[in-house]
Amino acid sequence: MKQIIVAIDGWSSCGKSTLAKQMAKVLGYIYVDSGAMYRAITLYFLRNHIDWTEKKEVKEALKDIELDFRTNDQNGTIEIYLNDENVEYLIRDLIVAEKVSEVAAVKAVREFAVAQQQKLGKKKGIVMDGRDIGTVVFPKAELKLFMTADNAVRVERRFKELVEKNPNITIEEVAENIQMRDYIDSNREVSPLRQAKDAIVIDNTNLTQEEQLKKALKLVKNISG
Ligand code: CDP
Ligand code: CDP
Repeated sequence: MKQIIVAIDGWSSCGKSTLAKQMAKVLGYIYVDSGAMYRAITLYFLRNHIDWTEKKEVKEALKDIELDFRTNDQNGTIEIYLNDENVEYLIRDLIVAEKVSEVAAVKAVREFAVAQQQKLGKKKGIVMDGRDIGTVVFPKAELKLFMTADNAVRVERRFKELVEKNPNITIEEVAENIQMRDYIDSNREVSPLRQAKDAIVIDNTNLTQEEQLKKALKLVKNISG
């Protein structure tokens, strides 16, 4: 089977990373959660009080950031490390989610992340999810998926995840965050969230994880044989 690049983009909380992870597992591909990179950079900026509206400050700060993905030996999941610290759990916090879209709109931040993402895809055999993977990171990806789901369903799914960690969180807070991020992500100047012309749309409002996986794997099979 020919190794390909699978680019998955779409709105927040619509099942991109769930699908990407499962596809990579079945295909024996690398999985890269590009959103985790923007979240880890945001965590670094918040911790170190970096003003991301200041170009010079951002440029200097990025020199001190090293990101890498490692496999958890116990459960086989891929986790992101920020300067050798496992931050996979911390970056999912709403505190990070509230600022990540502002940080991800900064040109220097995007250049930093995109360069690493492109390097990871050099040998193909990769599934990457994000907002600009099919449009900017891998414009020549063999398979581009654009995921979507009804707003209320997305909010409910993300709320379920977050309330397990923090019982004080409200569904309104989650809804507000998703709406704000979708707005900033699709209206920013640099690499806004767009459906690539050659992307295939998957609306998973009424699809189970198994059904969306089956659909996507069929598309891969059509391409890579
Ligand atoms: O999983 P969720 O939809 O909550 O978001 P994520 O994939 O973890 O991404 C977090 C944020 O990072 C997004 O809301 C975007 O602001 C930014 N992002 C981006 O700008 N470009 C990407 N390729 C991936 C994420
Ligand atoms: O990566 P993205 O933000 O697009 O979404 P995700 O983190 O993959 O999925 C958000 C939540 O929706 C997770 O808890 C998934 O288990 C759930 N999900 C679902 O219930 N049904 C699907 N068909 C896809 C995802």
